[in-house]
Amino acid sequence: MKKHLKGIVLNIENIAKDTVRLEFSTPLESILPGQFVSILIPHKTLRRPFSVADFCLNSAFGTNNRNFDSILEENAKNKGAITVLFKLKGDGTNYLKGLQKGDMIDYLAPLGNTFTIPDNKNNPKNTASASGDITIKTTDARGCETVDRINQTVMNGTKGMDKDSEPSGAIETKAVACAIGVNSSKKALLIGAGIGIAPMLYLKKILDKKSISNYLISGFKTEEEVIKGSDGVVIGGSVIDKVQNLIDEFRPEILYSCGPKVVLQMVCDIAKKNELRAEIAMEKVMACGIGVCRGCVIKLEKDDAIKNASVCADGPVFSGAEVIWE
Ligand SMILES: Cc1cc2nc3c(=O)[nH]c(=O)nc-3n(C[C@H](O)[C@H](O)[C@H](O)COP(=O)(O)OP(=O)(O)OC[C@H]3O[C@@H](n4cnc5c(N)ncnc54)[C@H](O)[C@@H]3O)c2cc1C
Ligand code: FES
Repeated sequence: MKKHLKGIVLNIENIAKDTVRLEFSTPLESILPGQFVSILIPHKTLRRPFSVADFCLNSAFGTNNRNFDSILEENAKNKGAITVLFKLKGDGTNYLKGLQKGDMIDYLAPLGNTFTIPDNKNNPKNTASASGDITIKTTDARGCETVDRINQTVMNGTKGMDKDSEPSGAIETKAVACAIGVNSSKKALLIGAGIGIAPMLYLKKILDKKSISNYLISGFKTEEEVIKGSDGVVIGGSVIDKVQNLIDEFRPEILYSCGPKVVLQMVCDIAKKNELRAEIAMEKVMACGIGVCRGCVIKLEKDDAIKNASVCADGPVFSGAEVIWE
């Protein structure tokens, strides 16, 4: 469920040309790949949406040499950290670029639905609870603990899930229902274009944790703009040119993508040609960001009917086969 939260900037750095990595504290215990946060920009009516590029839990935030002199009392509860990556565009992103460690951020999260995470029951790291949730606990090189609680229904997709229903579980969110299956041999091809790599990096991290074989290919216009973290990078040309070869060699069951509309459309075309499922994270200029203003509506073809869907509340992740490109 969406919450109005305040966080403290834990880290901010330039990671590529006109590209910034921003990490801030959060009281959330989990947020899923595909979901986004909406950050308040002072003196601007509209919040700015950014995909989650990483999330971790770290109870040691208060003791790891970070400067928390300016921490607000309410932030003492903040044990987690959300990372977003953003490209400098206008006033909002230029304001965020100027933030410093210890500054406060006002944001809404978690927003939107999530990519479907294939199940991998053979992975001993995945422990199912009596409620049917799966908890994955891991610690990364920074000593940063990630706890992913993902509802079984979300992960199993077609196993009794009504596509439009809201799964009950640790995370109140909707996932794009998907028939990816439950064995451990599933493979996923992730395609990021430009700053669209942001949600792909978090998705890759979760797939890696669940031992789901995956390959992330990303495309950037120039070498200076390359954001690290992919298995393969295309500089200058179109990332799409590599996708058919990767499908032939890697034989994925599902494609995930985020990037400009033209790239997403091509990913959907390739998926259709190869009879593969595609899940794409769409971007639309947003006003309210919570499904009220209908300013971010796209058209979907579902069950032989044309339906309107708002990217902020029904998405941003959609089944590529359902999107009507206008
Ligand atoms: C669900 C979602 C997730 C997003 N995730 C990321 C992310 O991870 N990293 C990132 O850098 N950006 C992301 N964006 C885009 C980001 O929200 C915009 O770049 C940002 O709001 C621009 O704010 P600004 O004030 O700097 O620019 P503005 O002054 O608001 O706009 C500057 C220019 O950017 C264009 N623009 C603004 N918003 C968008 C948009 N949503 N899509 C396309 N063009 C836009 C405007 O039309 C204008 O030409 C995401 C958008 C959505 C909807
Ligand atoms: S931005 Fe208002 S409905 Fe999506």
